Amino acid sequence: MFLKKLATISAILLIVVSDIACLHEEKGTAGKAVPTSEIQPKWIVPDTAELPNTDEGKLIRYGRALVVNTSYYFGPKGIIADRSNGMNCQNCHLDAGTKLYGNNFSLTSTGYPRFKERSGKTETIVKKVEDCFERSLNGKTIDSNSREMRAFVAYLKWIGREVKKGAKPAGSGIAELKFLNRPADTTRGHAVFIAICQRCHGKDGQGVLNASGTAYVYPPLWGVHSYNMGASMYRLSKLAGFVIDNMPFGADHKHQQLTNEQAWDVAAFVDSQYHPSKDLNGDWPRLAGKPYDYPFGPYADTLFSSRQHKYGPFGPIKKYYAFLKKH
Ligand code: HEC
Ligand code: HEC
Repeated sequence: MFLKKLATISAILLIVVSDIACLHEEKGTAGKAVPTSEIQPKWIVPDTAELPNTDEGKLIRYGRALVVNTSYYFGPKGIIADRSNGMNCQNCHLDAGTKLYGNNFSLTSTGYPRFKERSGKTETIVKKVEDCFERSLNGKTIDSNSREMRAFVAYLKWIGREVKKGAKPAGSGIAELKFLNRPADTTRGHAVFIAICQRCHGKDGQGVLNASGTAYVYPPLWGVHSYNMGASMYRLSKLAGFVIDNMPFGADHKHQQLTNEQAWDVAAFVDSQYHPSKDLNGDWPRLAGKPYDYPFGPYADTLFSSRQHKYGPFGPIKKYYAFLKKH
């Protein structure tokens, strides 16, 4: 008991001291020196054009088509079934999940099955695809034995087939942005939205459908057709990291168009707007396993408000949890 108290007190001290230390400097995970042992291998993106015309080749190509045109197959007007909000996987996994820092699938093949804190279980790729239908696509899962599910899995495995187990190729997934020393600001974010995002995503963030209503030309950022509160994009670090390297559409990690601050602020604005709810009971069964930017309590700490868990500043939270892990 005494030791535990001592640990909490020293953790607070640690946070206060290091906060003073970084008053004039933004601290986060980016920009850290990478030990030579962790130099990242380059990821050679496989090309579907090279696939043979075998059954396996056809299945992988079909998987790619499902990622690119999800709504055509599973949208509200889908030719197979109505299972989603009308978004495509590719809306968030750019270039069919192959773009560097574009939320790509380079680590999916070697990354599953693995234990995930969100469910408290060991998850397979099938479970991950089901999750995306239920959260990012705010819909219902598809039949896990269907040809479509087999195609998703075949494509996801094929994309990462050159990646060695345990290796993390440069540009995998979404970049981790430097933290701000202040909470991300929804008012400033609104101004960024109006100046930069609105022309494509629409005044009310509702997106723009194509003429036949079968897919989005510009996907929605919030509202009833957007991802729900259980989706990873509902966490500021994921949304801000995605946006800085990919938006406005055409940007990439070498040609970013937003500042770090703009990315955090616009993410705060977007995730402060309406998103469909989801029953989140059962998520993150181990409280200390929740990410630092998970916006819903209860938390393993009583130090930070849920507002700080949603909007930051995240530095002190991340430090505190790292401290708890070590003690
Ligand atoms: C030039 C048009 C354009 C602009 C400007 C633009 N976007 Fe996008 N955005 C897109 C397109 C197109 C996609 C879908 C990409 C795809 O399917 O390949 C997208 C996808 C997204 C997604 C993922 C899908 C979703 O709807 O949740 C987010 C988040 C996003 N944009 C945020 C932003 C933000 C924030 C800004 C402003 C900083 C912005 N975008 C500016 C065109 C644009
Ligand atoms: C609204 C945006 C959005 C949409 C739409 C979306 N995803 Fe995701 N997806 C994400 C985010 C964000 C992550 C988490 C990335 C991270 O943790 O770095 C993710 C993670 C994943 C992962 C795990 C990647 C890994 O290697 O761990 C897979 C696989 C995946 N998505 C597949 C899909 C599929 C298949 C679809 C369509 C059925 C889909 N996603 C639709 C945003 C989206």
